[in-house]
Amino acid sequence: MKRLQGKSVVITGAASGIGRAAAHLFAAHGARLLLVDRADDVLATASAVRSEGGTAVARVADVSSEEAVQGFIGEAVRLHGGLDAVYANAGISGGGIAFDDLTPDDWLRVLNVNLIGVFLAIKHAARVMVPAGRGAIVCTASVAGIRSGAGGAPYSASKAGVISLVQTSANQFAGTGVRVNAVCPGLVETGMTQSIFDRARERGVEQKIGQLNPLRRSGLPQEIAQAALFLASDEAAYVNGQALAVDGGLSSSLPVVPPRA
Ligand SMILES: NC(=O)c1ccc[n+]([C@@H]2O[C@H](COP(=O)([O-])OP(=O)(O)OC[C@H]3O[C@@H](n4cnc5c(N)ncnc54)[C@H](O)[C@@H]3O)[C@@H](O)[C@H]2O)c1
Repeated sequence: MKRLQGKSVVITGAASGIGRAAAHLFAAHGARLLLVDRADDVLATASAVRSEGGTAVARVADVSSEEAVQGFIGEAVRLHGGLDAVYANAGISGGGIAFDDLTPDDWLRVLNVNLIGVFLAIKHAARVMVPAGRGAIVCTASVAGIRSGAGGAPYSASKAGVISLVQTSANQFAGTGVRVNAVCPGLVETGMTQSIFDRARERGVEQKIGQLNPLRRSGLPQEIAQAALFLASDEAAYVNGQALAVDGGLSSSLPVVPPRA
């Protein structure tokens, strides 16, 4: 069954990682895509999707610029005759700056993309979806937004902010038919985490990655995209204001000494 047949969908952060996996998956489910990234590689994602028989155009844009967000949302409406779903997924890690060295500029850099960028996507998607009486907005938060231990302070706070934004905007749109949800990935090999995986491979300890979750492995971009697909589709028609952890069970437990296998 094709879950997004004929639907107009915008995906941000589609040049790489989870957003690129979502582009391929959503297109295979019949979506007509407008793919956004600040990196030119988004053009390659769109062309790869088209070569698989999907429908996709790409736009290079910065999700933290309101003018840019308004522009690409409007373009999706013009090109595809409406807007059924937005996957606000673009994000940055902010690097591994020690807590004591963090500056207000470090905070603003992360919050501008990860939190304000998501806010702008929700705001401009809702301007189209609310009058239409329907629409699904999916955001990428993180297990880092649920509790400590999966990123720096600005990153974690930005992702906790995304979870809060999902809750507040879902309620802001009460009675409109517009749903807002988040996925909270655990550790996934993407552009953002490549150096972690590369370092572990160099040291021959790759099998240790993901050992703290009960599935004892890291996630695949496609596994996060599958959850986003569900939330974007009509199958999630009664799911609203939720943050769905897709983390192998990592966030389900307090820290414990793992039992012997
Ligand atoms: N990889 C993980 O382990 C993990 C875990 C939890 C959450 N996430 C989240 O998943 C989302 C996708 O990241 P990923 O892991 O696929 O990493 P990635 O680096 O492979 O992809 C992120 C994409 O976002 C784009 N981007 C960054 N800033 C942008 C901006 N201002 N405007 C437009 N595009 C911008 C980048 O160019 C990149 O293509 C992010 O929100 C990230 O925080 C990732």
